[in-house]
Amino acid sequence: MSKTKIAPSLLAADFGNLQRDIEMVNKSDADWHHIDIMDGVFVPNISYGMPVVKTIAEHATKPLDVHLMIVDPDRYIKTFAELGATHLTVHYEACTHLHRTIQAIKAEGMKAGVALNPHTNVNLLKNVIKDIDIALIMSVNPGFGGQSFIENTYEKVYNLKELIKESDASTLIEVDGGVNSKNAKALIKAGADILVAGSFIFKTEDPIKTIQELKKSTDRWSIFEL
Ligand code: DX5
Ligand code: ZN
Repeated sequence: MSKTKIAPSLLAADFGNLQRDIEMVNKSDADWHHIDIMDGVFVPNISYGMPVVKTIAEHATKPLDVHLMIVDPDRYIKTFAELGATHLTVHYEACTHLHRTIQAIKAEGMKAGVALNPHTNVNLLKNVIKDIDIALIMSVNPGFGGQSFIENTYEKVYNLKELIKESDASTLIEVDGGVNSKNAKALIKAGADILVAGSFIFKTEDPIKTIQELKKSTDRWSIFEL
């Protein structure tokens, strides 16, 4: 069984000390840097744009997992590849020609992800599941950090895992929003491979320790108790 990946969401970092917080993630047991891009149209918030991503890329030593919460993401696929994104996730709800978008992401040498809003049924991924590297289940409505975890996420993760197995696909399941030590184990049990956490990591006194504990608890659990 592969180990759980932890992807701290830099949206919860202290932007006045961005380099410090990126270096904290570099030093920690985290696996990826999660980067949330919001356009104020697809979601009711604007996060940060290309100059900030460029700065993150200059300091980060781990893969850059970019989550686009924007309309018409096709316009920016090349730009994010040039900025150093290794994983690029678009929203199912924002893509009219999702299959084409996925191919365009891969053509730029990045891993392709598709995110689903809380109301979107996982079975809608059936016809592209073998084409995508990551399926990201939103466990809050996208747009803001620090929201409460939506409980029906466990069932969605479980159903998605079933779909992946039935399809003989190797897609990884990422869960994003309100993740903490209380729901992490059940998410892994349901089938999650990657946990994104923002507030839970950055709002603690010792984020390195929080990451270490989150990682250890899910790994121990996935190896010995599944
Ligand atoms: C929400 C973003 C998340 C967010 C998670 O729209 O996609 O990545 O930063 O933050 P927390 O863990 O605080 O819910
Ligand atoms: Zn995100």
